[in-house]
Order: sequence, then structure tokens, then C-alpha cells
Amino acid sequence: MDFRHQIASAGTLSSVAADALLVVIHGDAIDASLDPAVASLIKDAVSLGDFQFKAGRCWYVHRPAGLKVARLVVAAAGAPTVKAFKTAVASGLGLLKGLGVKHVAVASGNADEVGEQHAEAMATAAADAAYLYRDTKPSAPPAPAFAKFTLVCGKAHARDVQRGLARGAAIVAGVGFARSLANRPGNHCTPSYLGEQAKKLGKEHGIKVEVLDRKAIEKIGMGSFLAVSQGSAEPPRFIVARYEGAAKTQAPIVLVGKGITFDTGGISIKPSAEMDEMKYDMGGAASVLGTMRAIAELKPKLNVVALIPTCENMPGGAAVKPGDVVTSLSGQTIEILNTDAEGRLILCDALTYAERFKPAVVVDVATLTGACVIALGHHNSGLFTADDALADQLLAASREALDPLWRMPLDEEYDEALKTNFADMANVGPRAGGAITAAMFLRRFTGKYRWAHVDVAGTAWKSGAQKGATGRPVPLLTHFVLSHES
Ligand code: BES
Ligand code: MN
Ligand code: ZN
Repeated sequence: MDFRHQIASAGTLSSVAADALLVVIHGDAIDASLDPAVASLIKDAVSLGDFQFKAGRCWYVHRPAGLKVARLVVAAAGAPTVKAFKTAVASGLGLLKGLGVKHVAVASGNADEVGEQHAEAMATAAADAAYLYRDTKPSAPPAPAFAKFTLVCGKAHARDVQRGLARGAAIVAGVGFARSLANRPGNHCTPSYLGEQAKKLGKEHGIKVEVLDRKAIEKIGMGSFLAVSQGSAEPPRFIVARYEGAAKTQAPIVLVGKGITFDTGGISIKPSAEMDEMKYDMGGAASVLGTMRAIAELKPKLNVVALIPTCENMPGGAAVKPGDVVTSLSGQTIEILNTDAEGRLILCDALTYAERFKPAVVVDVATLTGACVIALGHHNSGLFTADDALADQLLAASREALDPLWRMPLDEEYDEALKTNFADMANVGPRAGGAITAAMFLRRFTGKYRWAHVDVAGTAWKSGAQKGATGRPVPLLTHFVLSHES
């Protein structure tokens, strides 16, 4: 998809050429500066009761009089925020889907200007409108024809807008990559497939990628990760991807992604309702790879390492059993009381492995707990860290990226829940506070660097009629990484 900008003012929108013009208007009246032809159409529609200045309302005009374009959509944003702008663009594009529209010009109908964040928001809304899963569905309808988006802006903001479009395009490519990995069914997207896709990504985008097989993982001593993988006929993989944009001496940002390509629960097997959605249990891994893709495109002067432990969680004859005790890479022993709490068991070894990169900071992303979904629903991802400065940095990235994140507690007191008589720790505590105890478990492996954990169990995919991967939190992670560039 092609994103560009075009210099023009709100007063000259009638001269904009494209297949369709989408004008976003905030507030509850027309600014005097709006193009007279566009303004008179809107005034007429308001007096007929066809359009209102209310967030969510949009209106389609065929062959609008006095305009160069054949199609005009006016979308009301309500508040003058970037978030409202994005929502308005998304609903406006809803009216253009399925038409023969390839090139959309987007403009603000207000006197105040669109800038960098609007540009990124337009790109992400556009990509959302254009996305259609078809990898395993040959009969899927053709995807929307959208191919080119032009943001109309004033001369003074052209550079900002250009920067926002470039960042938006990279994020969109990363989100798209993450979505297509995560949407693929478990029999297609296996640990080996993830490894191959990471290799391919590396070749195409100049990222160094190593994929370790079971033998290599055994040699390293990742006993906890291997315990999860042992019930499956699909061999595990450990993916190490390195983006080198700065001197080797510069400490990297390390991103760790949970890559369970299917989570049956193992011997502690899950109920069958909606179990198909556990193909999305590699959403953390997909988002980390998607972020690497976005970063490789934007080329910041930074080093970033992605670590992905990936396997299936299956109840085979060789599967790990409740009560089994395993030795993690850190040397700490773990009593596996519930084989369905497998995410933390694969992440803990990756977190220990991260130490060898002497990281500036480590962020892990995982569809880790149902409890996080109960706590936060499907809007906010959960943030867990004892590091206030790091929390602020991630929350700021979340706001910029319009990728919501909410900080959860991580007091020492929660650690009590993991005590057992038979190992250094149990892999589960009681049900109460389950998202927090999961984070406390991970914390026991992160003493040597700054660390945060992001639980995306409620945000990595959508259920129901709109079932599908969201690609979150690629936007958040990309902004977070870029915020380290000095
Ligand atoms: N992948 C699941 C978490 C999950 C569940 C994500 C539902 C999204 C929707 C994870 O491996 C898991 O099964 N967690 C258990 C932990 C429990 C056994 C302590 C859970 O949340 O039930
Ligand atoms: Mn599980
Ligand atoms: Zn899981």
C-alpha cells in the first residue's frame, strides 16, 4: 500500500484529485476556511437531516457538485483528537469498501492542521480497512481495492506528515505480518513454520536470524521450555533475530515473544469450547516478529534482539505431568502443578537466555493469562513491571501509538503464591490475581536487567464474527523501540 501526502489547504479541497475524497470534520459546525463547494454540500445535508456533526456519523456523496472527485465521504470526528480522527477515517473507509475506489485522499475539513500523528493514524486505519485473510480460504471475496492513500496537508506540516506516513507504513507492514502469522491455523503455523518465516524475514529485511532446533535447545539447557514441548510430535524451535543499527557495543533492547503455536493445555487439558482460538497463543511471537519488520524498515540507530521460544502444548504420551519438577536454564527448579500454565515455562528460559546480550531493557509479550482478560477485557493490554521509569516509557509509547496499555500491580507480596515444598517455585498459584502471579513467576528470572511484561491475552485477537488477529502490540512496541533513539 502506498501512502503519500499532498499540499493543499482546507479551502481548496474541491481541486483534489483521487478516486474518493474523505473529509474528516471535528466540532459541531463548519469552519469558515472550508472549501465553499464542500461546505455547501454539507450544509445542505445537515438541513435535510442527512448528516450530523456527531462522532461516528458519515455521509457518502456520489458525483459531488463542484468537486473534482467522483466520490465524497464526510466523516464527523467529534473531539479534535488523533484518536477521533482515526475512528472517523475508519468509518469513512467503511462506506468506500467494496466500491471501485483505489486511491483515497484524506483531508481535515477544519482550519487546524493534520500532523505526524494524524498521518500515522491514517495509515493504520487504511491498512485495517484493506486487510482480508485469505491464506487458507481460496473462496474469500476479493480484498478492498484500496492501493493508495494521500493525506492532504498544509505546507508547514509536510515534513511532519511525511515522517508520520513513513512510520505508519512500517507499522502497517509489521502489523500485517503479525496478523497473517497469527491467523494461520495451528497445522500450518507450526514452530518450524515460524522459524522459516523468521529466516525469510531476516533475508528480506537485513536481520540476522538463527533458528535453534531441539538438540541445540537441549545443549543450552532450557529444561523448562523443553518440558512444555515434549508432549508434541512437532519439534520446538528457539528463534534469535538481531537487528543491528548501532555499534556492537551498544546494549540492545531485547523483545521476547511467547510462541505457543497451539495450546491444548497439555495433560491439564482445556475445555473444548473455543479451543480453536488457542492457535493465537503465538500472538506474542508474531507481534515481536512484526515489530522487527517495522524496525528493519525504519532503520533506527539502535540494536534490537528478538527471542522466541516456540512449541506446541499437547497431551501426548511423553507429555509433562502435573507434579513433575523440571530444571530451568537459570538452575531454579519448577514444580509444574498445571501444564496449562505453559507460557511462563517457555518464557522463563528465554528470559534467562536474554542475559547473554547484556540488554539495556527486556520486554516480553505473551498471551499469558485468561485472568488478564477478566481484569482488562479486550481493550487494554496488561503491563507488569516494578520499574516506574520503564512503565512510563511504555505507557507513553502506548498513547502515541493508540495501542492501549494499562499498568497492573506487581508487589512483592504476590510472590508468596508460588511457594511449594517440592521445588524452588510452583508454576501456578491460586486463581485469584492470576495475571499478577504469572508476572511474578517471570520476575524470578529477570533479576539481571530492566524488565517489563505485557500480557496481550485479551488484545492479540478478536473473537466472534470478526474473529481474527489484531497485530497488537506491534504499534506500541515499535514506538517504544523508536523512543530509545537519541
Ligand atoms: N494461553 C493461555 C492464556 C489464555 C487463555 C489466553 C484464554 C487467552 C485466552 C495460557 O497458556 C493459559 O492457559 N493460562 C492459564 C493459567 C492457569 C492455568 C494458571 C489460564 O489463564 O487459565
Ligand atoms: Mn495454557
Ligand atoms: Zn498458553
